[in-house]
Amino acid sequence: MENEKILIVDDEQPVREYLERTLKHLGYEIAGCIDNADTALDILKKGDIALLLTDLHMPGKSGMYLLNKLKGLNINASAIVLTASQNLEDAISALNLGADRYILKPMRIEEIAHTVKSVLEKRRLVMENMEYQEHLETKVLLRTKELRKTMDALNASKDYIKRSYIESIQRLTVVAEYKDEQTGSHLRRIGLYVKLMAEELGLSSEETEILYISSPMHDLGKISIPDRVLLKPGPLTPEEFEIVKQHTVIGANILKDSDSEFLKTAQKIAVSHHEKWNGAGYPRGLKKDEIPLESRITAIADQYDAIRSRRPYKEAISHADTCKILLEGDAKSSPDQFDPHILETFKKCREKFNRIYESVR
Ligand SMILES: [Fe+2]
Repeated sequence: MENEKILIVDDEQPVREYLERTLKHLGYEIAGCIDNADTALDILKKGDIALLLTDLHMPGKSGMYLLNKLKGLNINASAIVLTASQNLEDAISALNLGADRYILKPMRIEEIAHTVKSVLEKRRLVMENMEYQEHLETKVLLRTKELRKTMDALNASKDYIKRSYIESIQRLTVVAEYKDEQTGSHLRRIGLYVKLMAEELGLSSEETEILYISSPMHDLGKISIPDRVLLKPGPLTPEEFEIVKQHTVIGANILKDSDSEFLKTAQKIAVSHHEKWNGAGYPRGLKKDEIPLESRITAIADQYDAIRSRRPYKEAISHADTCKILLEGDAKSSPDQFDPHILETFKKCREKFNRIYESVR
């Protein structure tokens, strides 16, 4: 009952005094005994009244007026109306206006006690429920905020792990390439050519990213090829060429059994990037669509860069001459070793290949 103040409004002084006395006797706190609606409204506006006990018929503004005002003020005060028994219809209207209960005059102490008690109990429950809802909403907001923070942190750490993982793979790949190319630029270019081709061929952004990361690992198996063969300045003997061919299978073995899409794709490319569309490649002599698309794309990127670049056994060649070799063939290369659709795509975007080569050295 603490802080549950009651405001009594009645134009008849004996009624006010009777109610005040009775309610005080029952242990309630009386905020005021008022004889008119306007003064009552001013007190109600302060917002600390729990219960309004008002007469309906008063000279000037009525109890109905007060209820109407109360409704529009968003005040959490309950209301009990007092009315003579012949005015029962007014009491019903008052209930429709938001009054909680009515008490008929002449009033009996038991009825006052019972009605006030039950209205205040109901109000208490409503207030508790409102507080609970507000508390719940605040709690939900707080939890949502915390959850969002955790998700952000998780995403950041996932990104970090992914970046670290990719960087580790790239560094591993550089080790393999380090023997004959110490800047790593060949590998960076391969990724860029393959990315360009994947975009031109209409692959999804996810497939393109996987190819961009995976394709530079195609020669990982070179790590096992002896320097005397790999760095030989002249043509290879048939036996030496057999050794070089092994880099495909060895690379695939290093990359096998991974759950990572990057490594799975890298393994696929490693083992088949020297397969040729016309079936003249190695290690398995696969033909056409038997060769994974990823490897068919990487093959042309690898060939372009290999022909253009200086190697221990050859000089660098211009962009125009490289394109001529790839598109028309020469003693060592034949256009039918490439997937014709991919070769056509290369033809369309070959100037972009040149720009990549010139800018990444
Ligand atoms: Fe290779």
